[in-house]
Amino acid sequence: MTREKVFDRLELRERLIEKLQRMKVKRSENFEVFSEVFNVEVLMQLYELLRKGFLKEFNGEISSGKESKVFHAIAKGNIEVAVKIYLTVNTEIRRMMLKYIIGDRRFERIKSDSRSLVYTWARKEYANLDTLYNAGLLVPKPMLVQKNILIMKFIGENGQRAPLLKELPELDNPHEIYEQIIDFIIKSYSKAKLIHADLSEYNIMIWSGKPFIIDVSQAVPVTHPLAEEFLRRDIENINRFFIRKGWITEEVSVEEVIRRIG
Ligand SMILES: Nc1ncnc2c1ncn2[C@@H]1O[C@H](COP(=O)(O)OP(=O)(O)O)[C@@H](O)[C@H]1O
Ligand SMILES: [Mg+2]
Repeated sequence: MTREKVFDRLELRERLIEKLQRMKVKRSENFEVFSEVFNVEVLMQLYELLRKGFLKEFNGEISSGKESKVFHAIAKGNIEVAVKIYLTVNTEIRRMMLKYIIGDRRFERIKSDSRSLVYTWARKEYANLDTLYNAGLLVPKPMLVQKNILIMKFIGENGQRAPLLKELPELDNPHEIYEQIIDFIIKSYSKAKLIHADLSEYNIMIWSGKPFIIDVSQAVPVTHPLAEEFLRRDIENINRFFIRKGWITEEVSVEEVIRRIG
């Protein structure tokens, strides 16, 4: 979407709301949510980011999930970025989110209404990316978080995202990739003090022959009460996938990973 199109859409939305208000309809949240993702609040934020020049272009959708949609954009300095916009959540997703927030001392003292929860979720992903990135791990560099919008470096090139591990029929270097993922789990624990907690072939992108780990909003500190369960599940997911693919014949066991963490 070009800068002009975003502005047009914003104007249209504003006019609709003005009209509704003239009809003496109370300005309610429902009226602002004309689209699942581009509600007025999101449009206003995008408008500001474009106006200030932080973003130069806002392009098409890369992915659409239950909790978020991801878009390709161009930031200042012609840097390709991924813009992740978190959606309003239902009760089931709220419950899931709380499981990964309660027990995380960084975020425990939060408001529990839906909107605040989604903002917390975005800030949690930003904080986790930042910690992992600064520990030297392969994750997209986080650039900005604001309300329910997170901007990070794009993994891919010319608007074409890198493939997910799950999408690749073959790997040139399966052993190496496997070892690098196990290494990620170990360093994430020992250096960043975090457990991904949703690690699988769906949240790993292969770029320049290396695994980049994404989708870290649910990652928890190693002090979380369910830490061991999450760690175990992450390792088992990766092992199951690589064995099923026939890319490895011998896995590194959960116990071995824990031993290597030290
Ligand atoms: N930094 C990024 N660069 C390129 N594509 C991305 C990036 N982050 C996410 N994506 C794409 O968006 C999809 C969804 O992102 P993800 O963070 O996994 O959210 P969720 O699984 O909760 O919808 C990913 O599978 C990937 O295709
Ligand atoms: Mg994902």
